[in-house]
Amino acid sequence: MATILVLHGPNLNLLGAREPDVYGSETLDDINQKLTDVCINKGHHLLTLQSNAEYELINRIHDAKKEGVNFIIFNPAAFTHTSIALRDALLAVEIPFIEVHLSNVHTREEFRQYSYFSDIAKGIICGFGSRGYELALDAALDQLDS
Ligand code: DQA
Repeated sequence: MATILVLHGPNLNLLGAREPDVYGSETLDDINQKLTDVCINKGHHLLTLQSNAEYELINRIHDAKKEGVNFIIFNPAAFTHTSIALRDALLAVEIPFIEVHLSNVHTREEFRQYSYFSDIAKGIICGFGSRGYELALDAALDQLDS
């Protein structure tokens, strides 16, 4: 049994209502529920956290190490483009992670084109809306199997 942690960064608590043309109509609860169902069916354990505060995400990553989390799926949201502190937290704990974005950040504003995470991630999924999280979970479980 593997433990997967899904981390959602700032403003993702507003999914469903926030710019639905960009981020889709599914809520964060819908997304987390789908991922939980997949994990339960496959005998794995899913943990989730959404936070608008950088320090809470950092602390959650530190705790993940102590809890033996095997893999992280992370949408850092706007922190993608700003947070050296979150990058350092992931480097410190050495837990493999996949970076997820609902939108295709590469077709958007220039400031969204740079990520502090992509070069240290196992992989990146962006542009497929909420389906991206499911694809990431699939890929994470494959990685853990191999
Ligand atoms: C996002 C893209 C980021 O640029 C943005 O700040 C977000 C969401 C995405 O999922 O597409 O909040 O990470």
